Amino acid sequence: MRETVLTNKDNYLASLLKDETELKQQSRKYAEELGLARISISAAEAQLIKTLVRTHGAKRFVEIGTLTGLSAQYLWEALPEGGELWTLEKDPKHGEMAARIFAQLDQSKKKIHLVMGDAREELEKISAAGPFDGVFIDGNKAAYFDYLTWAEKNLRPGGLVLADNVFLSGAVWGETTQQRFSEKQIRVMQEFNKRLADPNLFEGAIVPTFEGLYIAIKK
Ligand SMILES: C[S@@+](CC[C@H](N)C(=O)[O-])C[C@H]1O[C@@H](n2cnc3c(N)ncnc32)[C@H](O)[C@@H]1O
Repeated sequence: MRETVLTNKDNYLASLLKDETELKQQSRKYAEELGLARISISAAEAQLIKTLVRTHGAKRFVEIGTLTGLSAQYLWEALPEGGELWTLEKDPKHGEMAARIFAQLDQSKKKIHLVMGDAREELEKISAAGPFDGVFIDGNKAAYFDYLTWAEKNLRPGGLVLADNVFLSGAVWGETTQQRFSEKQIRVMQEFNKRLADPNLFEGAIVPTFEGLYIAIKK
């Protein structure tokens, strides 16, 4: 969940990044219709992940948690010609809205594959298309460690791991948060962060956005 009370800093950043394309605005409208606007990525964070993917040079990228296709558009834009994005979504309603968005993108030079189903199962099915250059983890919190385990096997050495919400609004360091997280979600996220911090496996950093964004390179 994103912070609902915007600071002057948030407002300033938003004012610099106010010109999202019509299709991105449509993704935001769909998320609003679902009552889920608060879990869509902010423009500032989306611009950050886009820049990271572009700088990394990733060509074959995976996203876990499509919602209405907003972050997917940023990731897809970052890919070079010939690039492919696989984006995984469990909820048919979310997927149907994302599909409407993706159908309007010119995919003649790079592709988006919307993969419907539980990512824990679907990731195994897309493994044959790997190894991949990177993954953006933004799905169900209780499965973050499983997603990382998949990434360790299916990203190439030097592959990029991006993960949103790694602070769980402060629950990972014991804060009582407005949004309630289960003990399992908290434990999984703590283990997830610990594993990404293992210098034998990854090299990375956490950007202290409100939700926490992990950026790591697989060794
Ligand atoms: C935080 S939202 C993703 C937001 C999106 N990345 C964006 O910023 O535009 C999380 C999404 O993950 C989906 N999800 C939850 N559990 C899932 C699972 N097991 N497999 C795939 N998707 C899942 C939810 O339905 C929801 O649409």
